[in-house]
Amino acid sequence: MGTTQTVMTAEGLRYRYGETVALDDVDLRVEPGECVALLGPNGAGKSTLVMIAVGLLAPQHGSVRIMGGDPRRAATRRRLGVAQQTLGFPNTLTVNELVTGAAVRGGLRAAAARPVLEELGLGDLARRRVAKLSGGQKQRVQLAMALVTEPALLVLDEPTVGLDTSARRHFWQILARRRAQGAAVLVTTHLIEESAAVADRVVVLDHGRILADAPPQELVSRLPDRTVTVRTGLDRSALEQLPGVLSVVSEHDRVTIQTRSPEELLRVLLDRDPDLSDLRVRDAGLEEAVLALTDAQEVAA
Ligand SMILES: Nc1ncnc2c1ncn2[C@@H]1O[C@H](COP(=O)(O)OP(=O)(O)O)[C@@H](O)[C@H]1O
Ligand SMILES: [Mg+2]
Repeated sequence: MGTTQTVMTAEGLRYRYGETVALDDVDLRVEPGECVALLGPNGAGKSTLVMIAVGLLAPQHGSVRIMGGDPRRAATRRRLGVAQQTLGFPNTLTVNELVTGAAVRGGLRAAAARPVLEELGLGDLARRRVAKLSGGQKQRVQLAMALVTEPALLVLDEPTVGLDTSARRHFWQILARRRAQGAAVLVTTHLIEESAAVADRVVVLDHGRILADAPPQELVSRLPDRTVTVRTGLDRSALEQLPGVLSVVSEHDRVTIQTRSPEELLRVLLDRDPDLSDLRVRDAGLEEAVLALTDAQEVAA
């Protein structure tokens, strides 16, 4: 039954720095093999949540468990792989020394480092000092250190910053392989569309509260708005009278219409203008869905 154990369980987490509330009653579960993306504006509380998850901060209220254990205990931390931009390296060490060190601290033999270095394309750089690496190479060293112990949960804070498109694709492929083996991933990113492509669940945090916890597709489909673009002879004021229309913007001979009810609008539109052409309907993207959530929060506050 060990393989089906919930990887991370956080309940009722609260954390404040003086007067600043960073986390306000946060619950979060992560299951084996899941990739959960933590999204939200600067100051939302993402890093605080990550630091509590990996045992660097103790929650002031509530509890967090990783594979059933307290992440502030060394035995529990061994089940975690952590890559955080802010951690930095001792620059005098070589790539091999760093990854080997991570293996040994995780209770493995030094030789465990070799296959991970190869997997991440660091084999040829193994003897180089980290001070001499590019930003993208340092990111890969961080990831190698996180992966070497084959953790149950990988916690990654903005892991693809500074990576080019192909390095980024390679990165997600490596994670997909680990996930297929049962590892779970908790990743913070400001690249919302990227997380839509890779995450099973998106958790939107703002002002220390979880505003949404759902698959990315579901968040997008919750947004009622659709965008209709069309070439039409109807003028703007006629379009604005049509059912469910929120806004009309015309550019040359094309108009872009935001609507809550595209089906109803299209029926009337096709009826009024038999000559209309170049019709397109599209969803809002995840980025718009997340912004809609956090904007609604601003309005409420
Ligand atoms: N060490 C700290 N001292 C005081 N305030 C902090 C500290 N770290 C974070 N904060 C505040 O807590 C809130 C949440 O920050 P953080 O968890 O870093 O959010 P995020 O990672 O989403 O940007 C912010 O208002 C931030 O300014
Ligand atoms: Mg942060």
